[in-house]
Amino acid sequence: MNTTLTTIPLVDLSEQHQPLQNQIDAAVRDVLQRGDFILGKDLAEFEAAFALKSGVSYGIGTGCGTDAISLGLQACGIGANDEVILPTNAFIATLIGVIRAGAKPILVDCDLDVRGVVRVARPEYIEATALIDLEAAAKAITTKTKAIVPLHLYGQMVSPRQLLDFASAYNVLIFEDAAQAHLAQREGYTAGGVGIAAAYSL
Ligand SMILES: Cc1ncc(COP(=O)(O)O)c(C=O)c1O
Repeated sequence: MNTTLTTIPLVDLSEQHQPLQNQIDAAVRDVLQRGDFILGKDLAEFEAAFALKSGVSYGIGTGCGTDAISLGLQACGIGANDEVILPTNAFIATLIGVIRAGAKPILVDCDLDVRGVVRVARPEYIEATALIDLEAAAKAITTKTKAIVPLHLYGQMVSPRQLLDFASAYNVLIFEDAAQAHLAQREGYTAGGVGIAAAYSL
């Protein structure tokens, strides 16, 4: 029997790149010609445009999303002796950001029971979102808890209303990791516009 193996690529980024290629090439050429490599007008324009689109007051460009998390948490006054709650299925960079800020990450379970879009092989998980479980987060609160870092994952947002209720009930800051949900919307909020600050990655 003749068997033909077909490789299906996991992701084809060139398909997304092609329609924008000319625009991107021209923008990069323009920056190179001006030698405007550090900060500069393009970054300032992007910061303002992205903040406006996300419905927040300010946007600040950093080297990467991990820097945005550690610098953002530090800017919120979070550091040594503070505990920060995040889900066990957080991206590794989120944990690194918390640790680099000097705080202690406290991992709590994610939600596998509510309506959502994650599709996995186990039928009992078919409706799961895998977003942070706020009931588990409530059990992890101590006198050292300063913030919760909800991850808006796979394009889904953690419920802004439930997050705001949680933050006011336990007097903690919300610092959103929106690196997998740029411009996602839920309950009238845009990802990154719920808490005191947020981090993204491009
Ligand atoms: C949820 C999440 N947080 C943080 C990051 C870190 O971003 P960066 O790789 O730009 O440091 C990523 C990167 O993919 C991410 O998916």
